[in-house]
Amino acid sequence: MEILDIRSRGLASFDACSGDWSSPFSGLPGFSAEAHRRRLRGLVSKALESAESVALAAQDGGGVIGFAACEPNAWESAFFGRRMFGLTAFRAGSPDAARTLLRELLSRASWDTVTAKADPLDLGALHALEQAGFRLMDTNLMCAFQTSPQCLEIQAKEGLDVSPARTEDLEAVKAITRNSFKGYRSRFTDDSRLPAAARSSFYEVWAENSMNGFANLVLVARFDGRPAGYITAIRNAEAESLVGCAVGQVGLAGVDPAFQGRGLYETLQRHALKWACEQGMQFVLYVTHLGNRAVQRRLCTLGYFPLASRHSLHLHRENLP
Ligand SMILES: CC(C)(COP(=O)(O)OP(=O)(O)OC[C@H]1O[C@@H](n2cnc3c(N)ncnc32)[C@H](O)[C@@H]1OP(=O)(O)O)[C@@H](O)C(=O)NCCC(=O)NCCS
Repeated sequence: MEILDIRSRGLASFDACSGDWSSPFSGLPGFSAEAHRRRLRGLVSKALESAESVALAAQDGGGVIGFAACEPNAWESAFFGRRMFGLTAFRAGSPDAARTLLRELLSRASWDTVTAKADPLDLGALHALEQAGFRLMDTNLMCAFQTSPQCLEIQAKEGLDVSPARTEDLEAVKAITRNSFKGYRSRFTDDSRLPAAARSSFYEVWAENSMNGFANLVLVARFDGRPAGYITAIRNAEAESLVGCAVGQVGLAGVDPAFQGRGLYETLQRHALKWACEQGMQFVLYVTHLGNRAVQRRLCTLGYFPLASRHSLHLHRENLP
């Protein structure tokens, strides 16, 4: 088997890899596998603009049989103070090709931590990642909601006001995040190889960034004027390019523990779905952790349907077998 460096060989070797590239969006009406492939190619091409990225193809006598690429994640690297990489694409036609590609990729890139996202049905990729030393950190469930005119009707609740966040809400939103996410478990909070201070502030920083323009929408729920919960949402350009219509995504949400269990999260979700509907979005995506039963229960009652799931795995240089 020969390993080709895409940087020097060009993207023709990627094109030759006729793998069935899985996409979390393939369950959405209008999904185009060809658009997905084009987007993946664009991602690899863009990733290679960074001198630190590596993209490899595996070739045997019959042609290209596998492909793997990794690239640095600038935001995560700055936040965690480590060279954080992501496995952008990984597909191999045989266990041998998968093992060889991963081994070569990991030896050619300069990383401290690599995150891989793998489809639970892709046992070939998962077993190769395990063999390379990756450890399962969490599992995401992506759900989708199809908007309809009904989204525009929301029943008012006495004493409750839901409205766009104001600049002066920042400290309240951070405090709600701190209190509601205390003890929350995910790959960002549970990996002891990542610095403790960064792990414990992860969701608070996400909330702050959302308030500072990362999110297209931040709604705050107030009970008798007191901030009690919030929800954020963005446009999802990646999904839009694959399904050919406007798509939104609900992001972070939190309800102060003192106000939980009263349907506040449901109300916030309804307001976010109304916003999406007003923006002309036909679908709204939501990614939650498989262990978040409260959220999943609410997603079911609201009418979200499951789209895809992804295991997240981490490999740290200190843990290389
Ligand atoms: C998830 C969260 C937003 C829910 O807020 P909330 O206002 O209490 O939610 P709701 O009252 O609308 O509904 C929660 C539902 O989940 C159920 N629930 C709560 N905890 C649960 C648990 N541990 N297991 C199963 N169901 C649970 C509730 O009973 C309720 O369902 P029901 O009305 O059918 O009984 C809140 O718990 C929170 O802030 N959690 C931490 C942060 C988080 O997980 N954010 C979302 C991911 S970004």
